[in-house]
Amino acid sequence: MENIKELVKNRRSVRTYDGRVITAEDNAKLCAFMENIKNPYGINVQFKLMNADEHGLKCPVVVGTDLYIGGKIKRVPSAFEAFGYSFEMLVLYAQSLGIGTVWLGGTMNRPAYEAAMELSEDEMMPCATSLGYTANKMSLRESMMRKAIKADERFPFESLFFDGSFDVPLTENAAGELACPLEMVRWAPSAVNKQPWRAVVQDNAVHFYLKRSSGFGGHDKLDMQKVDIGIALCHFDLTVQELGMKPIFVEEDPGIPHDESTVYIASYRME
Ligand SMILES: Cc1cc2nc3c(=O)[nH]c(=O)nc-3n(C[C@H](O)[C@H](O)[C@H](O)COP(=O)(O)O)c2cc1C
Repeated sequence: MENIKELVKNRRSVRTYDGRVITAEDNAKLCAFMENIKNPYGINVQFKLMNADEHGLKCPVVVGTDLYIGGKIKRVPSAFEAFGYSFEMLVLYAQSLGIGTVWLGGTMNRPAYEAAMELSEDEMMPCATSLGYTANKMSLRESMMRKAIKADERFPFESLFFDGSFDVPLTENAAGELACPLEMVRWAPSAVNKQPWRAVVQDNAVHFYLKRSSGFGGHDKLDMQKVDIGIALCHFDLTVQELGMKPIFVEEDPGIPHDESTVYIASYRME
């Protein structure tokens, strides 16, 4: 994938499609890409193309396509983050082909999707996406939904990213060469646009945290906010790599004090 910055900036959730079937060429490219997606946790995600009619899939917010992709992963530690990373790779790749997607975790008849994915006992399907070419005009439902969750907005840079400790906001200026990768994190999609990712830059490392939104408890069977963090890690990793840096992924809590609603997830050491 090339030009991650453009892909991230131009991506938005697409819920209204123009009805055209995905070309055989795009279909083949997507399938080939799906086979080779990796994430820093080394946990495999399996993807599957699914037809709505064949499997009885219903998603009331989506119009103009019958095509979906689901992803499944083993229920192991860090599976949600790994899933978020891998599935976002697919989302960005689809974007590079001019194909619209929308992360779907809630607004669907989930049992039908899970049945279509043929989950085994130890597997789960955190999310799926619809797939197709973007319609010129959004449905009324989609535009109302976007307004309600302020989907075109993000929190300011300084309220998401910190300099050495959570008491010191990081400005874009002070972030230097990390400003762009962190800005790409800022524009990541997240469930209900809650933007739960936080990062502290300290001693040439970037430490990622999840700040739980109220009502998004961590004990759910499906932890959408951990999926959000995986998406953030993906945007960060792809951007720094494109800028020629070689980040090293580690899970080593640096012990930076934080509040009760915040949990440490993982770090990138910038060598
Ligand atoms: C983990 C996850 C789950 C989501 N679930 C849904 C969903 O069930 N239905 C839906 O319409 N959008 C869903 N979204 C899309 C978000 O609402 C959307 O990404 C956010 O509002 C930001 O808008 P944008 O993607 O256009 O930038 C989900 C996003 C993520 C990351």
